[in-house]
Amino acid sequence: MTISVFVTREIPDEGLEMLKHNKSLRVEVYEKNRIIPRSELLRHVKGKNVILSMLTEKIDKGVMEAAGSSLKMVANYAVGFDNIDLKEAAKRKLVVTNAAHPNVSEAVAEHAIALIFALAHRIVESDHYTRMGKYKGWEPQLLLGTDVMGKTLGLIGSGAIGSLVARRMYEGFGVKILYTDVKRNPTFEKAYKAIYKTKIQLLRESDFVSLHVPLLPSTKHLINDRVLRAMKKTAFLINTARGPVVDSAALVRALKSGRLAGAALDVFEDEPAFARRKSDAQYLQHAWNVILTPHTASATIETRQAMSRAAAENILAFVRGKRPPNKIEKR
Ligand code: GLV
Repeated sequence: MTISVFVTREIPDEGLEMLKHNKSLRVEVYEKNRIIPRSELLRHVKGKNVILSMLTEKIDKGVMEAAGSSLKMVANYAVGFDNIDLKEAAKRKLVVTNAAHPNVSEAVAEHAIALIFALAHRIVESDHYTRMGKYKGWEPQLLLGTDVMGKTLGLIGSGAIGSLVARRMYEGFGVKILYTDVKRNPTFEKAYKAIYKTKIQLLRESDFVSLHVPLLPSTKHLINDRVLRAMKKTAFLINTARGPVVDSAALVRALKSGRLAGAALDVFEDEPAFARRKSDAQYLQHAWNVILTPHTASATIETRQAMSRAAAENILAFVRGKRPPNKIEKR
């Protein structure tokens, strides 16, 4: 029996090659290199057994219905899977996988750390300043930033990515680590001399706050007006997790009123159409204390290939009747 796989967008080649070499699979990749419009998605999934989706597609009841009873699996080309309706998938007994891989955690941790340093050393602002021809010679007080070494880093989430950020920052820069999570993490505490705090305590005491939680009903707007008020005026917020974890209107208010020193964001409340939401668009007006990257935290060649292989391995395991390595269990 041939198993049909629909890939919603061209991904790095290694995983695709693995799939294409398997004789029992017929692989169709959406022919245009763009986010697949919903109407085309609904048309293309019809009769497919497996959808290899990007995080840009909502894989909801409508898509599952359009695919029909032939659909058996959704393999997400992302670590997060908030774009997939897991309840609906469970009702239909669909296997759902993500593309978790140690490479992804490393890449995202590196990106979060890069943003911490970019904020502290005003890298983006300094680059613009120099390019604009404003540099006229060394000055004792030009573009003063802040040290990272010896500062306090508050991590919201102590999972795979949070742990890597903690390790690099503690071992490399002598940063004091505070963390909060749904439950205490003794391994994390021991490894990085990390101190468990409530969310509000953590925000009060941290110089940098980095978010490493999935998007769940309980984490939506985890960073809101009330908690932003608890942060130090000199503190920075870094979000490489998911946009809706931060109430962007509240963050814009905090930045405008100087209640926060700055923010670096890789994710936005309204993706993929960044800036359709007014509060997301307002980040653009905060050029100098807000650093924006276009959801590229995991965008290294090595990592995106690793994710491609991970997605393929999940599909191949499923096809062989084995448990896919990244199967998502119902939450
Ligand atoms: C990226 O955000 C991912 O979830 O892989």
